[in-house]
Amino acid sequence: MQTIRFGIIGCGLMGREFASAAARWCHLLDMPARPVIAAICDANDALFPWYEQSLPELAFKTTDYKELLAREDVDAVYIAVPHVLHTELYTAALEAGKHLFGEKPFGIDRAANEAISAAIAKHPELIVRCSSEFPYFPGVQRFIAAVRSGSLGRILEVDAGFLHSSDINPDKPINWKRKASINGEYGCMGDLGMHVLHVPLRLGWKPARVFAQLSNVVTERPDGKGGMVPCDTWDNAALHCDVEQDGYTFPMTCKMQRIAPGETDTWYINVLGTRGSARFNTKRPKTFEWMTYEPGGPQAWLSEDLGYTPPAASITGGIFEFGFTDAILQMWAAYVAELAGAAPAFPCATPEEAAASHALFTAALESHAKHAVVTV
Ligand SMILES: NC(=O)c1ccc[n+]([C@@H]2O[C@H](COP(=O)([O-])OP(=O)(O)OC[C@H]3O[C@@H](n4cnc5c(N)ncnc54)[C@H](O)[C@@H]3O)[C@@H](O)[C@H]2O)c1
Repeated sequence: MQTIRFGIIGCGLMGREFASAAARWCHLLDMPARPVIAAICDANDALFPWYEQSLPELAFKTTDYKELLAREDVDAVYIAVPHVLHTELYTAALEAGKHLFGEKPFGIDRAANEAISAAIAKHPELIVRCSSEFPYFPGVQRFIAAVRSGSLGRILEVDAGFLHSSDINPDKPINWKRKASINGEYGCMGDLGMHVLHVPLRLGWKPARVFAQLSNVVTERPDGKGGMVPCDTWDNAALHCDVEQDGYTFPMTCKMQRIAPGETDTWYINVLGTRGSARFNTKRPKTFEWMTYEPGGPQAWLSEDLGYTPPAASITGGIFEFGFTDAILQMWAAYVAELAGAAPAFPCATPEEAAASHALFTAALESHAKHAVVTV
């Protein structure tokens, strides 16, 4: 099996998820290649011991990303750093000739995203993809297949969202994702938005106009040292969009919320159509629901437990459940397959899709500021 030598830049929450996925590559079947994590970089070297203990093939560690990018034994990099650093590090990786798997939102704002896109355009030989794992749930794949089958009739509306609730706690200390200077002016949209937009954009549901409602509910948080500091990011966003398709317009609502009481990593998508409807929610991670309607016939939802049936074949029996870390593994399987020259069943989010999400978030900021509908 071909090996692809990876460097990880940013060894925090998501860096560890990739390392863990790479460490259980034997879970997958029929892969043309496997990732080897040859090098790691983080500004905080206290994170290194976990990697050293977990990755026997790790050959290099550094606190300076330029040293990692200069290494010839690194073919591709995964960069998972705070949003304010995306442009500098993604651009440097491309200039160093590394394939790039970058975390969303792919730049702290639209100008930063455009700079990344310009660097990508200069390196068509490199494969660049954006992280987004939820489409790899079997239920989401079924949702996508239902829409692509063309059997839903005229689409009435789409409702998609990604919800968290831990920020409802005013005692939760501040972190970089709650500071606009590091997370970006998009706030929760930059953090959660690409997850919500990936499937709609892949299905061609590109917002034409948006009316946005953004809320900053908790305006200051403990600094962890006994004081309080400003918390200046949007906590919740509700984007009410027009989508134009097949000669008609339908509404699409996209919610990104850090304060959705009771919700923990709840990702959902619903579509309603005149001949068919479909829905999936990670609250019921193995279940896909749909309705088909014939004029005059019954309107009844059907529900199927899908088991472990993701796009890339694996050792897990089809009767078992699928979860978040499985989706991460499947996303990486799709990227590594592409690097090996194969065509994955569902390719990872593209830089063009990330750019389309920026167009929407930028329009949403303007919409909220003017309290008006804005063309995307
Ligand atoms: N796909 C997902 O489900 C998902 C989930 C969470 C976060 N993310 C994204 O992943 C990225 C990272 O988020 P995270 O949650 O892993 O954050 P994190 O804070 O846990 O990790 C970021 C790491 O970057 C390091 N870092 C900061 N400056 C650096 C520099 N100059 N050089 C090298 N390392 C540096 C930090 O020390 C930290 O360890 C963000 O873009 C975020 O939006 C994606």
